Amino acid sequence: MNARGEPLLVVDHLVKKYPVGAKSRLPWPTRATPSSFLHAVDDVSLAIARGESVGLVGESGCGKSTLARLIARLIDPTSGVVRFGGQDIGAAPAATFARHVLRGSLQIVFQDPTDSLNPRYTAVDTIGEPLRLLGSMTGGAALDARVGELADWVGLPRELLTRFPHQLSGGQKARVGIARAIALQPKLLILDEPTAALDVSVQALILNLLADLRERLGMSYLFVSHDLNVVRLLCHRVIVMYLGKVIEAGPSEAIFRVRAADCRASRRARSIRRRRSAASRAAAIRRMIAAGASTRSCGQWIRRTKPRVTWRRA
Ligand SMILES: Nc1ncnc2c1ncn2[C@@H]1O[C@H](COP(=O)(O)OP(=O)(O)OP(=O)(O)O)[C@@H](O)[C@H]1O
Ligand SMILES: [Mg+2]
Repeated sequence: MNARGEPLLVVDHLVKKYPVGAKSRLPWPTRATPSSFLHAVDDVSLAIARGESVGLVGESGCGKSTLARLIARLIDPTSGVVRFGGQDIGAAPAATFARHVLRGSLQIVFQDPTDSLNPRYTAVDTIGEPLRLLGSMTGGAALDARVGELADWVGLPRELLTRFPHQLSGGQKARVGIARAIALQPKLLILDEPTAALDVSVQALILNLLADLRERLGMSYLFVSHDLNVVRLLCHRVIVMYLGKVIEAGPSEAIFRVRAADCRASRRARSIRRRRSAASRAAAIRRMIAAGASTRSCGQWIRRTKPRVTWRRA
């Protein structure tokens, strides 16, 4: 909460629509005359307190990354409010927010470390960039010392600092991206599936690192992920999105307890249905035999009415 008792981040009725198709005489869609809109983020409201870690989950394409980018002010909302640290930052155009006074306090780590790093920058250039642009450091020994310190925090060996992205492993690139994001000690770190592009063993190391950094720097996290176990471990609260809307939100343990109970209940119901159907088939066969049906016609009936095995989504 800030001085006015407001959470660190407040998102109010946020909407992002993308034009799709067109009522145009041209045979291809044009930007000028969209015929309909895709509601990537549809009237989303949420709040994140200082030091709180919030997980954002939902199926692919439900709008998680769009919401993360809207909050990080990388794209402009169609409508709605984003308040950060008590200030309305949704009004500033995304193009100018890069130089905003709050840019350093609100950082994002992207899903693919390779895509998010400038291939022409060495690790030291990448990590030092926010310090040069938004901090007061222009270069020299102080900047080098700070970059070295950040490399130590994220477990990146200092001898790798002079390497370009193509000379680093996926895990090392992820560490460079995280070091750049925490360079100005942000209050809110948005993590858009930060480990999705990494090997499982490296994922665990990076997740541990993120948990340590949150403790050390007291940051708030908005953690976008498909991995519910990770969200359960790292996050105090979970927000579930579906088709651009928030459909469920609450403390991690409560949400996962309810989900687990739902799964158990539906498994129990399926098994009862299966047992009932087996019992009623056995009774029907007994009735057919009592009525004098031949073994052959009973066999045909059994084959014809055999329940089909269908694959269910887990
Ligand atoms: N720049 C864009 N122009 C048009 N449509 C877009 C744009 N960016 C995203 N979308 C659409 O918005 C919807 C939400 O996309 P988004 O990337 O936010 O999904 P997501 O939940 O992050 O999915 P995933 O889990 O696969 O990363 C998708 O249908 C996508 O096609
Ligand atoms: Mg995404």
